[in-house]
Amino acid sequence: MVKLADDEKAMLDGKGGPAKQKAMELLVKYADALNCERFVDTNNIAGVPGSSTLFLKDYYKDFNGGNYEAIFSLFDLDSDQVVPVPKVTAYSCHLQGGVDPKEWDTLGKSREVFEHQQEDEAAVADHGIQVMKTCTPYLAGNVPVKGEHCAWMESSAVVFCNSVIGGRTNTEGRESTSAAMLTGKIPDWGFHRDDYRRGTHAIEVKVPIESMLDWGMLGYFTGYAVEENIPVITGVTYQPNLIRHKHFGAAAASSGGVELYHMVGITPEAPSREVAFGGNKPVETIAYGPAERRKTYEMLNSVGTDENVDFVMLGCPHASIEQIWEVANLLEGKKISPSTKLWLFTSRSVKSMADTNGYTKTIRAAGGTVLTDTCSAIGLAVPKGTKVVALDSAKQTHYLPAMMGIEAWFGTTKDCIDAALTGHWHGELR
Ligand code: F3S
Repeated sequence: MVKLADDEKAMLDGKGGPAKQKAMELLVKYADALNCERFVDTNNIAGVPGSSTLFLKDYYKDFNGGNYEAIFSLFDLDSDQVVPVPKVTAYSCHLQGGVDPKEWDTLGKSREVFEHQQEDEAAVADHGIQVMKTCTPYLAGNVPVKGEHCAWMESSAVVFCNSVIGGRTNTEGRESTSAAMLTGKIPDWGFHRDDYRRGTHAIEVKVPIESMLDWGMLGYFTGYAVEENIPVITGVTYQPNLIRHKHFGAAAASSGGVELYHMVGITPEAPSREVAFGGNKPVETIAYGPAERRKTYEMLNSVGTDENVDFVMLGCPHASIEQIWEVANLLEGKKISPSTKLWLFTSRSVKSMADTNGYTKTIRAAGGTVLTDTCSAIGLAVPKGTKVVALDSAKQTHYLPAMMGIEAWFGTTKDCIDAALTGHWHGELR
């Protein structure tokens, strides 16, 4: 049974009001199910609090018309009655949603969906939650520090927080993050604890890993190989930048369930192989050489047969300003094929930088569109009639073709831009 500190007991006894009481009840059940003995304080939470779709609003229509408080109470907090939801006390942000507020019609969404999303967003802001609307909060102003206890949803953000930054979070759910926003508490379990963060599997890299494509493929291979365990990667001689980590982690979290990786000499908890394993004996040692690299590329391209590309989607996880700059440079003065659409997804804050620097204008002049808040997989949105998509993200390649029943090609950003300009796929493994 979880042991409660005085402030936690007070919230559970209702001293902070009914919403905090419901939130503590939920967290106590969660901690007990984990066999966890205590809570840890958190002041960095990323979730989708009270967020709803028209379906959810209709489902709860008999409770305050399915408004924000009703959904927060009944769905997020698992309460049996609607309770007044106060402003959050911990620093909290809202992750990606399903609609771009400016390009909702481009995404094929109705005005009703857009207006509901606007209502929802106003309620989020009213409750003191930052409307970041991105899967990359660390690019939009929420950057934890090493050792900071966080409570984040979104697998690609969780693996980045744990591995690249050295922050501490499990892959939380909507319910636990919403409860944590009100209480500032989360079970002290899993990745919050030192002993859980030690490596379990060794990945020995035998080929040079430099391009974003290569980092995505290595991540995809690693996730497949270790599933939800903790890989310790050795043999990497090229210092990855933020984009490469972003693609590596997102891919490893989608082909497997990797929430933390150590890269010896690179990530903050892996100054050496010994430290990364922390006394654990590797369960398995797995090599990544030319044959594995080729096989991973073929696996990612296994649902591509038709070389006529009618859609190019970039920005999974949401593009950084450097990636948008690169795309604008590749498109400058050129025109996308009339048979192809190009959508690039990012966060609002990064898009505002892209606007300031003229990149959005350059991409638009070439015929592409920069979108925010969502992506094709999360928003279930591709241009009407799409049959074949080109992608530079292993994560999006893992999900989108199956979700939308379309073919997909995976390659470099340049391969994708080339497909957008010519309407044909020419990518190959170099
Ligand atoms: Fe983000 Fe969508 Fe990819 S929300 S991580 S761009 S699947």
